[in-house]
Amino acid sequence: MAAKTFISALFLCLILSSTSILSHSYNYYPQIKPCKELVFYFHDILYKGNNRNNATAVIVGAPEWGNKTAVAQPFNFGDLVVFDDPITLDNNLHSPPVGRAQGMYLYDQQNTYNAWLSFSFVFNSTEHKGSLNFAGADPLLNKTRDISVIGGTGDFFMARGIATLMTDAFEGDVYFRLRADIKLYECWK
Ligand SMILES: *[C@@H]1O[C@H](CO)[C@@H](O)[C@H](O)[C@H]1NC(C)=O
Ligand SMILES: *[C@@H]1O[C@H](CO)[C@@H](O)[C@H](O)[C@H]1NC(C)=O
Ligand SMILES: *[C@@H]1O[C@H](CO)[C@@H](O)[C@H](O)[C@H]1NC(C)=O
Ligand SMILES: *[C@@H]1O[C@H](CO)[C@@H](O)[C@H](O)[C@H]1NC(C)=O
Repeated sequence: MAAKTFISALFLCLILSSTSILSHSYNYYPQIKPCKELVFYFHDILYKGNNRNNATAVIVGAPEWGNKTAVAQPFNFGDLVVFDDPITLDNNLHSPPVGRAQGMYLYDQQNTYNAWLSFSFVFNSTEHKGSLNFAGADPLLNKTRDISVIGGTGDFFMARGIATLMTDAFEGDVYFRLRADIKLYECWK
């Protein structure tokens, strides 16, 4: 009986020590460094009924209490927006675009500003050719928001990482500019 207890106690110790070794080695895993870092700005001008000439985004779905020329109240909740925004290297809307940010965002929280983003950066310049694909929650009022870089093509073949978004400018419900600090942790090229 005593021997049996001793053996099971020994066994328990073994399990505990091996799990603590595992969690230990995991905690001490070396810090992963990004393999590529990129910074871009993109510019979104929402169609509001009279700016078809320079609008880059349009409400395509709105709740019954809203419409397609004004964001729904409150918190834009229920609006679905499709966009085709110019991407620039600096914060000037009129700088030569290096690509397009194309996709959609939808406002999906009833008690604050929150969007869900699903879009691609499409590059066709001498510097970059290919695309990066993004998805994630965007709590707009937070100074920085992290979304996932879920893949890429061309120069960004199989890329994965994190994009930190910051609202760089916001003018009413019509224009906003986002800065995207992209850190790729998986690079094949
Ligand atoms: C869009 O164009 C209008 C008229 O051409 C101009 O007044 C407005 O400032 C432009 N908006 C942006 C964000 O450039
Ligand atoms: C859309 O909604 C806004 C805000 O409620 C309103 O001012 C505007 O007249 C509406 N536009 C149309 C075309 O119904
Ligand atoms: C990329 O740019 C080149 C040269 O301007 C053009 O021939 C090509 O069709 C473009 N490709 C895409 C996918 O836009
Ligand atoms: C909000 O911003 C803070 C710092 O600015 C950051 O640490 C946090 O992860 C952000 N939260 C979300 C949900 O993005």
